[in-house]
Amino acid sequence: MNYQDEIASLKEKHNATILAHNYQLPEVQDIADFTGDSLGLSIKASETKSDVIVFCGVYFMAETAKIISPQKKILIPDKNAGCPMADMITASQLRDLKKENPEAKVVCYVNSLAEVKAESNYCCTSANAEYMLREAFNENDKILFVPDRYLGSFAAQKAERNVIVWNGFCASHLRILPEHILQKKAQHPEAEVLIHPEALAESVNLADAVLSTSGMLTYVKKSLSSEFIIGTEIGMLYPLQKQNPDKKFYPASDLAVCPNMKKITLDKVITCLQNLEFEIDLPAEIISRSRTSIFRMLDFVKKA
Ligand code: 13P
Ligand code: SF4
Repeated sequence: MNYQDEIASLKEKHNATILAHNYQLPEVQDIADFTGDSLGLSIKASETKSDVIVFCGVYFMAETAKIISPQKKILIPDKNAGCPMADMITASQLRDLKKENPEAKVVCYVNSLAEVKAESNYCCTSANAEYMLREAFNENDKILFVPDRYLGSFAAQKAERNVIVWNGFCASHLRILPEHILQKKAQHPEAEVLIHPEALAESVNLADAVLSTSGMLTYVKKSLSSEFIIGTEIGMLYPLQKQNPDKKFYPASDLAVCPNMKKITLDKVITCLQNLEFEIDLPAEIISRSRTSIFRMLDFVKKA
C-alpha cells in the first residue's frame, strides 16, 4: 500500500481528521484535510465531527484543540514539537505579574501554555490581536499581554491601547533583520513585502502588510502584484506557491526556520495514526479554566 492509501485507510478506521499548520513540511501539508493558521485550525478543530484529530503543528496548537474539544482524542505525531515562545511564561510567573498589576486584564497569545490560558481573561492569535485589544477594551484599561512582546507591542500601537508586554519572543522570526528585507527589496523592487507580527519592529516597519500566515494567503490571492517578499517562517512559501502558481515568492530570510515545526514527518504521522499516540492529556480543571479565554476570542471572531 502506498502512504496515501495507508493514511486514508487509517483515517477511516479511526474516524480521524488531519490538521496541519502552514509551516509544516510540504508532504505533511499535502496529506492534511485542512491547513491553516492557529486561528483557522482552532476553528476547524471545533467544527469537525471526527473522534480523533491528528494535529500536525506544535504542542500549544494541539493543546488548544483539546481545550476546545475535550471529548475528542487529540494526537500530536511528535510530543517534543514545542514552541519555545510558549514556554517563556509559566502560570506562576503570570500570577506574580497579575499581583503586581491587580487592576489589569490579561490577554494571552495563543502561543502559550494551557496553564497560562487558564490564568488569562482573553486569548488572541496573530490574526486578531489588534481587533481583540480594540474591541474588548477601552483607552483607560490596563492590559497585560503575554508572552510575545513583538505582537503585543504592534497590536497595542495599532489599537491605541495601554498594554504592558511580557518579554517573550520567537527566535525564528527575530532572525528576519531589516537588512535582509532591504537587500531583497533591492533585488525585487516590484515585490510587496508581507511580514508576520512576531518579527522585529524595525523589520515590520519596512513591510507593506503585517499578517498572520493565513492572512498572507488571503492577501496574495487578492493582490494585483505578482511578486512577494515573505517575512515569516520559510515553510510558508510552500502553501503560497501551491495556491498561487503564477506568482513569485522570495523568503525575507532563509534563516527564519522553526525546527519544532519540522519535527513532524510523514512517517511520524503514519505511526501516530497506527498507534493513536501521542495523546494530549490536560487536567479537567485546566481545560475548564482555559476555555473561557479561548471561547471569548472565538465569540469575538464570530461577531467580526
Ligand atoms: P499564525 O497563527 O499566523 O499561523 O502563527 C503561528 C505561529 O506560530 C507563528 O510563528
Ligand atoms: Fe513558536 Fe516561533 Fe515556531 Fe511559531 S515559529 S511555533 S512562534 S517557535
